[in-house]
Amino acid sequence: MEDVQDEHKTLDVLILAAGLGTRMRSDLAKVLHRLDGRPLINYVSKTAAALAPKKIYVVIGHQGDDVRSAVLEEFDQDLAVFVEQKQQLGTGDAVNAAREHLADRDSTLLILSGDVPMIRPETLAGLVQQHHKHRGKGSSCTILTVKLKDPTGYGRIVRDRDGLFERIVEQRDATDEQRQITEINAGIYAFDARKLFAALEKVQNNNAQGEYYLTDVPALLREAGETVAIFQHNDAYEIEGVNNRAQLADLERLLNRRTITRLMLDHGVTFIDPKSAYVSERARIGRDTVIHPNVTIEGESEIGDGCMIRSGTRITDSKVGHGVEILDNCVIVNSDIANDCTVGPMAHLRGNAKMQKGAKVGNFVELKKTTLGEGSKASHLTYLGDATIGENTNIGAGTVTCNYDGKNKHETKIGDNVRIGSDTMLVAPVEVGDGAVTGAGSVVTKDVAPNELVVGVPAKPVKRGDQNRSRQKNTEKANAKSE
Ligand code: UD1
Ligand code: MG
Repeated sequence: MEDVQDEHKTLDVLILAAGLGTRMRSDLAKVLHRLDGRPLINYVSKTAAALAPKKIYVVIGHQGDDVRSAVLEEFDQDLAVFVEQKQQLGTGDAVNAAREHLADRDSTLLILSGDVPMIRPETLAGLVQQHHKHRGKGSSCTILTVKLKDPTGYGRIVRDRDGLFERIVEQRDATDEQRQITEINAGIYAFDARKLFAALEKVQNNNAQGEYYLTDVPALLREAGETVAIFQHNDAYEIEGVNNRAQLADLERLLNRRTITRLMLDHGVTFIDPKSAYVSERARIGRDTVIHPNVTIEGESEIGDGCMIRSGTRITDSKVGHGVEILDNCVIVNSDIANDCTVGPMAHLRGNAKMQKGAKVGNFVELKKTTLGEGSKASHLTYLGDATIGENTNIGAGTVTCNYDGKNKHETKIGDNVRIGSDTMLVAPVEVGDGAVTGAGSVVTKDVAPNELVVGVPAKPVKRGDQNRSRQKNTEKANAKSE
């Protein structure tokens, strides 16, 4: 990120995030509502930190503790100064809450709204740069604006006959004529901090909402003979504010569209129906992977090359290798699937489930905190929880690891080349050695030694040698006949 700290001017950022957001009709503070799985406030906080300012002031109020924790996910405590706005009396009052920190500070103050998440650091750097360079000596205030096809709800930029800034009029205070103006206030400004706080003292609340508007400050500065500049941006998407759930949904859709288009054009991912797929901006998907309709890929998921993901599947914060086939209606959360595995249909992987190379999980199989070794299979109707399974082992249909005794969870260990018969109950803690076999319907309550065969309820060892010998005899007989 380009350094926007001017050699003469300190840059500070102030984020407005105290409001409840009445128009959201929610018990949750607006900036904590999630876009692509992350609270709105995280977006702005991350962007602010990318500018490397001296300090980031955050005005908090509604659910302040939660907002504070969200902000601190994005940058260090020593960069942050939290100020509380006890009563939400408007954006001007919110800025005023930081007066004691900023009123005498010789700095440029960049003000951001917690509810305008898509703004990019590059755009803000441009705004600050113009603020410092305007007419060679800088301006007292520079406002970020954009022209919108539908400016409804935003503050409008009124310009004078010479096209220079005159004032901002809020939607609710605007005349019909002013409402025709398409240039809007993004709610993002660069200010000379001292001049801002001096003008803020004069702001009144005699408007439609009875609030102290920050948007009155630029006109007051202008009246006092200061220069107020406009930085007009051309990407409306970056400036979208979230005031209600319809706007939140619009932004979610736009973000998703952009993500999917990027994956198709830059990463070679096929989407059978891009409109019905949902992919997080943070997810990564490899070349020649095919995503079918109604697939959801959330969080920090990573999917390799040449995979096939069929309809109705959700993948959250999981890693999927190359050449993996995931059939319809699977749920895969916090799990790790290696190359060439097959999953589903209707499988559930969760709680750090791991499938190693070429493993297979079939229909109605659940894996929780379980590792299924290379080439091993659990093809039907099975629950494997707190289990470690070796290589080339086959888990028969209907197998259950009985991992919970009502109080504690216990582990099951199954070795390599094991054959677990259909409907086996493995009462944990229990261990099944390499090459062992359990008979269909056995209830295994004790460890099974390597190469041992156990059957029955409770399962007991039977001599495998005898069985093998009689089997061998039969084979010899059959061979003799066919000769
Ligand atoms: C504001 C601007 C409007 C602009 C729009 C851009 C004002 C008066 N209007 O309107 O010109 O077009 O943003 O998105 O500023 N907040 C507080 N304390 C308060 C009130 C608000 O911290 O007392 C915070 C909110 O949490 C929010 C931000 O300030 O993050 C903006 O407030 P909001 O009510 O959304 O203002 P808009 O009506 O969107
Ligand atoms: Mg808003």
